[in-house]
Amino acid sequence: MTHDRAMTPDIHKRIIEHLNSVVLMFDEGLKLQYINPVGEMMFGMSSHHMVGQSLSRLIYRTDLVQALGGALDAGHPFTERECEIEVSPNKTVIVDLTAIPLMEPNQPSGLLVEMTQMDRQLRIAKEENLLALNQATRSLVRNMAHEIKNPLGGIRGTAQLLERELEEEELREHTGIIISEVDRLQKLVDRMLGPNTLPQMKMVNIHEVLERVKQIVEVDLPEGVNIRRDYDISLPEIYGDKDQLIQALMNLIRNAIQAVGHEGEITLKTRVQRQYTIGHQRYRLVADISVIDNGPGVPESLQEKIFFPMVTGRSDGSGLGLAISQSLINQHRGLIECRSQPGNTVFSVLIPLDDHGDGDKHG
Ligand SMILES: Nc1ncnc2c1ncn2[C@@H]1O[C@H](COP(=O)(O)OP(=O)(O)O)[C@@H](O)[C@H]1O
Ligand SMILES: [Mg+2]
Repeated sequence: MTHDRAMTPDIHKRIIEHLNSVVLMFDEGLKLQYINPVGEMMFGMSSHHMVGQSLSRLIYRTDLVQALGGALDAGHPFTERECEIEVSPNKTVIVDLTAIPLMEPNQPSGLLVEMTQMDRQLRIAKEENLLALNQATRSLVRNMAHEIKNPLGGIRGTAQLLERELEEEELREHTGIIISEVDRLQKLVDRMLGPNTLPQMKMVNIHEVLERVKQIVEVDLPEGVNIRRDYDISLPEIYGDKDQLIQALMNLIRNAIQAVGHEGEITLKTRVQRQYTIGHQRYRLVADISVIDNGPGVPESLQEKIFFPMVTGRSDGSGLGLAISQSLINQHRGLIECRSQPGNTVFSVLIPLDDHGDGDKHG
């Protein structure tokens, strides 16, 4: 064993540093000796600042700290599932936690703590469902839209013929209604069918896209509504279709404006996320473009299904905006996620930034 270790001094380190689980090693006095990079990320602090600190200063939960101390004293492993811990004053994570006392002969004892972040796994499972459902509904909607679209031309043409034959102004009003309603339906099915041109993929500066969308919506923005920017200007360009990105973000911003009503704040925020999983795929770098509003939030009853077509919480809504945005972003290998509570609703558009192709499976 010792011999192996000497031959491959780095391999254990490499494994631990690239594990998806958080690994912490405490000494017999429950002071931190080691934390791996995923752990640093979860605690939002560098190893340099954490090593040497005692357990109770890292995890703000007395019962858990006691249980871990007890495990070390008794020499018994300790496990807690879906355990909620506060890793910093304003960040809580849910983890599956296992603590193993290490007591090999001739070595100081210690406590090895391993944590797997749960909300991350739940999130991935949820996304996979979302992607599958989205694909199924998308084809259903397209077929329906085609069926509705076909007779519309005939109805409109016939109503126009009729209109010409009618002499009374009052009767012509009725044909006028038929025609304008047909036009409305036509627009609706065109939206349901989505863009019918192939995407024109180029390198796109997402801040230009956001500025454009902002400019368009500001024309008739209620006076009490403010659009704030919080851009990370180091965000690299995205490989995508500019018009589709404009449309996808426009739908999100329109929804935010509708949500806040006469008064409120909308924030356009961009960030880079590292080692992010979208669907099955893990990417090294992902652009995170968020539209945040301080409106009342997505109604509880709709939260699970707002990305489905025809799901709307507004009397004059079509319920298509989010379904279309989601499918446009899916075409960019990305995903839209939503987190909402009263006063804080975040729609995040996540698009991989890795070089074209399939991303980094091993990353
Ligand atoms: N920012 C938001 N705040 C609160 N609710 C929202 C927000 N965005 C979307 N929603 C909810 O999701 C529903 C679906 O949105 P969408 O697909 O754009 O369709 P529509 O806007 O036509 O209703 C909206 O009707 C609304 O109830
Ligand atoms: Mg909408």
